[in-house]
Amino acid sequence: MANRRIYLDHSATTPVDSRVAAVMTHALTETFGNASSVHGFGQQARAAVDRARREVASLIDARQNEIVFTSGGTEANNLALKGLSHGEAAHLITSSIEHPSVRGVCEALEQRGWDVTRLPVYENGIVRIDDLKAAITARTLLITIMAANNEIGTLQPIAEIGKVVAAKRSDGQKIWFHTDAVQAAGRVPINVDELGCDLLSMSGHKLYAPKGVGALFVRRGVRLQSQSVGGHQERERRDPWWGDPSFRVIPLGTTEREVRIHHLHIDPRFGQADLDVVLPMRRLTELARDGAVGGAAPRHYSIMGYILDPTVLVEKTAPAIADAMCADHVDAAALVPA
Ligand SMILES: Cc1ncc(COP(=O)(O)O)c(C=O)c1O
Repeated sequence: MANRRIYLDHSATTPVDSRVAAVMTHALTETFGNASSVHGFGQQARAAVDRARREVASLIDARQNEIVFTSGGTEANNLALKGLSHGEAAHLITSSIEHPSVRGVCEALEQRGWDVTRLPVYENGIVRIDDLKAAITARTLLITIMAANNEIGTLQPIAEIGKVVAAKRSDGQKIWFHTDAVQAAGRVPINVDELGCDLLSMSGHKLYAPKGVGALFVRRGVRLQSQSVGGHQERERRDPWWGDPSFRVIPLGTTEREVRIHHLHIDPRFGQADLDVVLPMRRLTELARDGAVGGAAPRHYSIMGYILDPTVLVEKTAPAIADAMCADHVDAAALVPA
């Protein structure tokens, strides 16, 4: 154990699962046809893409034809927001803690004349439904609120937001709801009908698929303007190429995965004096659960405080974390020989 390094940042990215790597190798060397081709090679590739699409759809209880493959979460977010905002400037509601790929599009829309409301998240890192209701006006066309935050892991009340949107829609308002679920998909159960969202972004490399692969759920009936022209793939919603068979959904929830620590976020202000308090893993978990940040994604530990050098905390907590992980047959990829 002494000579091992531990990878604690599964929110930044995950290693490619060996089962996914095997599928990728097969796709790169055997089923390499163009999925648009009518001949056997193309149809073989098409079948692989279809299978991946089915798996991604079932992860969020969507229909297969509601999944648009993208190059990752960033493109999924861009496609969702740009694809719906091509008309006249209107009003958009977002949160103050979105990923830059959502934040950036909101800023670009603001420059094009859109009004943007950024909901605060308060001490617990969560938006308030009353704030959302108060922010919605007759001009509100788009709401984009992330499902789980990439740094502090807080889960937003997406299903409640979905209900507010549904009520507005039944009053006759044209309004769309997108959620960036890059940090939630595969980590918490997602059913798009229960959430009531129209669009939902995912990213492969956050759930053991490779980097550069993602998906956008586009509810049937939502008309999204493609951001590129010249192809007709992904049902005209995203042109460059067919989806990628490498976005394979690996069954989560096995013993091995339960003990994976997805993310350890250490606030750079963590106090040196507080270090000893958080050394045992159990205490670390308690802090994450009971601390200022509540309602976080599973195994997403976030610690607020004051420290000059965050690496000190990682080094100090590593033995306790390693013990806990080894006892539970941790995945080898999470423990890298130094
Ligand atoms: C919440 C969130 N949204 C979007 C992204 C972007 O995903 P990708 O790296 O696949 O472009 C990330 C990646 O860190 C993320 O955490």
